[in-house]
Amino acid sequence: MTSRVIAIDGPSGAGKSSVSKRVGEQLGYLHVDSGALYRIMTWQCLVNGIDTANPDAVAAFAEQVTVDFSPCDGKIAFYVNGVEPGHAIRTPEINKHTSPVATVKAVRDRITEWLRDMTRFGNLIVEGRDITTAVFPESPARFYLVASPEARAERRRLEEVQKGIANQSVEDVKKSLLARDAIDSSRKHAPLRKADGALEIDSTFMTLEEVIQTVINALPADWRTGL
Ligand code: DC
Repeated sequence: MTSRVIAIDGPSGAGKSSVSKRVGEQLGYLHVDSGALYRIMTWQCLVNGIDTANPDAVAAFAEQVTVDFSPCDGKIAFYVNGVEPGHAIRTPEINKHTSPVATVKAVRDRITEWLRDMTRFGNLIVEGRDITTAVFPESPARFYLVASPEARAERRRLEEVQKGIANQSVEDVKKSLLARDAIDSSRKHAPLRKADGALEIDSTFMTLEEVIQTVINALPADWRTGL
């Protein structure tokens, strides 16, 4: 049997991660955070002194980056030289450099190939920016999650504080995520946009539980069991 893929796109802070993790848990689908792969690529560029504003340098370097994948605790875990990157890929510095790195076609092609290859591990719930439009456009379960910039900034800030990553003002977080949205939505290759046929969910005034139920209720009936 071929694997099923639930695809979830949307801007930063719209709630994709919380929703994907919980829906994955409930249905037994492995959670895949595609943004983490773009962050890993960026982190490796910075560690190796690659200028992220130079697309040719980033493209050449992308060919050499190796990431290992394996299913672990309900998700596909990513390893670089045997180590999970953890918070190193969630800093404001990485936030700033990832959008430009994600505009580079060679980076997108590499990561798209990795993501498609992950279907060999089983049923997946994959979150990102181009999952519904470019990586798995054939999926019958595609969602576009949005929320107001204020709600998104508040959620992101809380997450950063709780994880001990940063303590920025809501205004600074909002500025940074709107800047990233602008780059992600206007880039030439696989920009962030709502795919035709994807179900749009505005989570601004919804609880997490309500969003989870909306996603599950919209799945094809035989996909709700995870079997
Ligand atoms: O979801 P995130 O904030 O971790 O994503 C980090 C960056 O990676 C963001 O600028 C958009 C980019 N990205 C992308 O271009 N395509 C994806 N499928 C996932 C993330």
